[in-house]
Amino acid sequence: MEVTRARAWETLTRYTTGESLLRHCLAVEASVRWYARRDGEDEEFWGCAALLHDFDWEMHPTLEQHPADGAPILRGEGYPEELIEAVLSHAEHLGLPRDTPLKRTLFACDELSGFVHACGLVRPTGLEGLTPKSVRKKLKQPAFAAGVNREEVAMGAQELGLELDAHVANVIAALQPIAADLGLPAG
Ligand SMILES: [Fe+2]
Ligand SMILES: [Fe+2]
Repeated sequence: MEVTRARAWETLTRYTTGESLLRHCLAVEASVRWYARRDGEDEEFWGCAALLHDFDWEMHPTLEQHPADGAPILRGEGYPEELIEAVLSHAEHLGLPRDTPLKRTLFACDELSGFVHACGLVRPTGLEGLTPKSVRKKLKQPAFAAGVNREEVAMGAQELGLELDAHVANVIAALQPIAADLGLPAG
């Protein structure tokens, strides 16, 4: 099958209806696409892997099932192994090697996109004017966006070979153009 954004969106929305989860998938997609563009990679393919990384969460809302039990569904839909492997590798608990740039990028963008999104939601101007420094300050507040694993945020930047501030700045830049889709004031 040809992996297209339209196809991935159709798959995602067949299994996912919750607004916040859809927004999370869109945010991770935008961040992963940003890096694909920067590095001259296959933006459409990378974006589809990102869009689908949590496609089975509503059906499999535990780490026992997600994303392992989602993989056979994607296989049945005809998605290539390269995409399925990337989806599986975003789950730290499965302990799979992140041995491709796509896998490292998806992992690095998953938690941080959610966190930057959360930072934007508590600011009247959204992502406009949000700085890496203020994101870092929020990361030190355990109660803020408590579901975001700080260790994985740090690990993700490291695996990309970036300082955390640089990675944060890239993710902010990636999310700005889709602010309205994320429920944030458009800059
Ligand atoms: Fe996930
Ligand atoms: Fe995710």
